[in-house]
Amino acid sequence: MNASTGRSGRPELPRITEHPRLTDRMEAARALDVRALAALLSDPDPRTTAGLAAAADETMRAEVGDAVRFRGLLEFSNVCRADCLYCGIRRSNGTVHRYTLSRDDVLAAARHCAEAGYGSLTLQAGERRDAAFIDYVCRVLESMKTETRGPDLPDGLGITLSVGEQSPDTYRRFFEAGAHRYLLRIETSSPELFARIHPPGQRYADRRAALHAVRDAGFQVGTGVMIGLPGQTVEDLAADIRFFAIEGVDMIGMGPYLPHASTPMGSGQHLGEGERAQLLDRTLRMIALTRLVLRDVNIAATTALQTLDVLGRERALQGGANVVMPVVTPVSVRSGYQLYDGKACLDEDRTMCAGCISGRVAWTGRPVEANRWGDAPHFERRNRE
Ligand code: 5AD
Repeated sequence: MNASTGRSGRPELPRITEHPRLTDRMEAARALDVRALAALLSDPDPRTTAGLAAAADETMRAEVGDAVRFRGLLEFSNVCRADCLYCGIRRSNGTVHRYTLSRDDVLAAARHCAEAGYGSLTLQAGERRDAAFIDYVCRVLESMKTETRGPDLPDGLGITLSVGEQSPDTYRRFFEAGAHRYLLRIETSSPELFARIHPPGQRYADRRAALHAVRDAGFQVGTGVMIGLPGQTVEDLAADIRFFAIEGVDMIGMGPYLPHASTPMGSGQHLGEGERAQLLDRTLRMIALTRLVLRDVNIAATTALQTLDVLGRERALQGGANVVMPVVTPVSVRSGYQLYDGKACLDEDRTMCAGCISGRVAWTGRPVEANRWGDAPHFERRNRE
């Protein structure tokens, strides 16, 4: 603990000399006052973004340390039964060439992650619930654990899984097969907005129940939202942060909503320069406020943020985020995993990604935590309590 740590074990807020009034408002935000959170999100003063980022950075260093954690991101299949109105790999998008990587390809990517020192891998795919898919995922998880063991990683890679809504039994099987973290975004904590961006068969209550089942299966739980959805208000976003806190999640991944031309929501929609700048600013404030409120969780600087702005991920790392996910998907299939238009790094192979991302993190002045699973301290704390 450092000198600025208060009696409660929580760090005191840093002083922000350029913008003193922010301190009180951040206290209210931390107490989960939705109005205070919403006001900070919409404050027209551009200094607010920098002030929140500085405070979030301080909180991050005190609660989870200043090291950046890497997880290789392997998008192993784009076959999907869901039909989310915003997503480029939705079932109804017939223009997508569908792929599922072989077990050998998945294991090769996992070995690459281990060799690159990433310590953890995120396995992501479209949603499928058939027995063949579930068995395949279990087998791959089991082989991956054993095949990535080595002197630097005695327990093999840490594995995060992200394959959508599944039954409680399936989540238990995935956990037993060796995954220990699971990402399932709520997309928005507003049931009304959720209903507007999904087809009638995909329900908010089911998504929320699935999140609870993930937790009950023993996983460290990650969730998140999209920022800038049509009709989304700053009050909705403030309520999203409150949702993360109430659910007691361990990890957060959130990024801007970016239109995809072959989707019902994205067709004909184009973000102008001003809109992109505003979206970047709002996303950075969401990340900073989430760090200020949730404190000891892991927060990712996402690929969507990098797509929005070339320095988007770096700015997130300077304002509360502590996880980056270099894509390790083979270049040959990358173009098939475009959830939104303009996705960054489509033609870079994983060796190029490793070099690029290390350079980018070095530029932020943050150390990298190599060969560690990099779990969020929040998980251990909630288990103790
Ligand atoms: N823009 C931004 N993020 C998107 N996702 C899906 N489609 C888009 C889009 N058009 C996000 C969703 C999903 C995650 C895998 O990708 O939040 O949970």
